[in-house]
Amino acid sequence: MTILVTGAGGNIGSRVVAKLANAGHPVRGTARDTTALRVPAGVEAVDLDITRPRDVGQALRNVDAVFLYPVRGNADEFLASAREAGVQYVVLLSSPAAYESGEYDRPIGLAHRAMERSLENSGLPHTVLYPSWLATNARRDWGEQIRNTGRVGIAYPDAQVNPIHIDDVAEVAVRLLTEERQRGRMQVLTGPESLRLRDIVGLLGKALGKAIPVDELSHEQALAQRPSWMPEEILKTLLDVTAAAVGVPAPVTNTVERVTGHASRAFTDWARAHRADFDPSESEHH
Ligand SMILES: NC(=O)c1ccc[n+]([C@@H]2O[C@H](COP(=O)([O-])OP(=O)(O)OC[C@H]3O[C@@H](n4cnc5c(N)ncnc54)[C@H](OP(=O)(O)O)[C@@H]3O)[C@@H](O)[C@H]2O)c1
Repeated sequence: MTILVTGAGGNIGSRVVAKLANAGHPVRGTARDTTALRVPAGVEAVDLDITRPRDVGQALRNVDAVFLYPVRGNADEFLASAREAGVQYVVLLSSPAAYESGEYDRPIGLAHRAMERSLENSGLPHTVLYPSWLATNARRDWGEQIRNTGRVGIAYPDAQVNPIHIDDVAEVAVRLLTEERQRGRMQVLTGPESLRLRDIVGLLGKALGKAIPVDELSHEQALAQRPSWMPEEILKTLLDVTAAAVGVPAPVTNTVERVTGHASRAFTDWARAHRADFDPSESEHH
């Protein structure tokens, strides 16, 4: 039976695909437009927009388990088709924003809760994953500045988060998709330790072999520097949540170890593997 991985080009989805394929499972990966999608040999690629499911017969043929991204929009029709097609189990990537104070009733939380509700209403057996601060946020939020200037402006640099390596998120998803053992209703996933944002920059600097100064931004400065792809209300929520996390240790769970059998990976592992994303001269060496 085939495992369907939605968002097969995504940070986490691409790793779920690769790990399933490596382990010899039949995999089908989807993207809204597969023209530019790269999948490992032997993996099928199919076009799919979860919010506008057309001709999903091909995507869902012989599928018994699905890795589902928390897309913005309505997934009811896709999930009804999945159930009709015989899907037995779904792993949904969600976010602690769906339940944390200051977030669950604002846009990020509401969008994730809508997806969870859709899945619950579909009647499909499922597990919801709640990963902590994705290590890839460092690249998303700071990569360009560090590449261009060697320093980084951050609001509330003493806020604490628990960075999780996306390989750990993907490995947990793969375990759940392929084994029934750990299929609880939800799994709260974190990395090994709570760190201040400035500590994370420090670890990036160590991986790069140079100090990366942190310039503390005011709330207003951070709002004024909003990246064009991020809606204002989302940035406002993130800043409020970050302000509330100053001096507050982020939770640590042992779920990665319980599910995968190995300790969660350190942020440093991710940083070492992604030096080129922060230092253009690194990509020239490799
Ligand atoms: N940032 C955090 O700290 C954090 C913490 C906890 C949870 N999360 C969750 O993790 C997500 C980020 O994961 P990531 O970095 O792996 O994401 P990513 O690299 O941005 O990939 C998102 C994937 O979703 C797919 N997608 C979006 N809309 C779709 C639709 N309508 N139909 C089908 N596929 C659709 C995209 O596929 P195509 O564009 O190729 O179609 C893409 O592959 C966040 O959005 C959040 O929900 C984030």
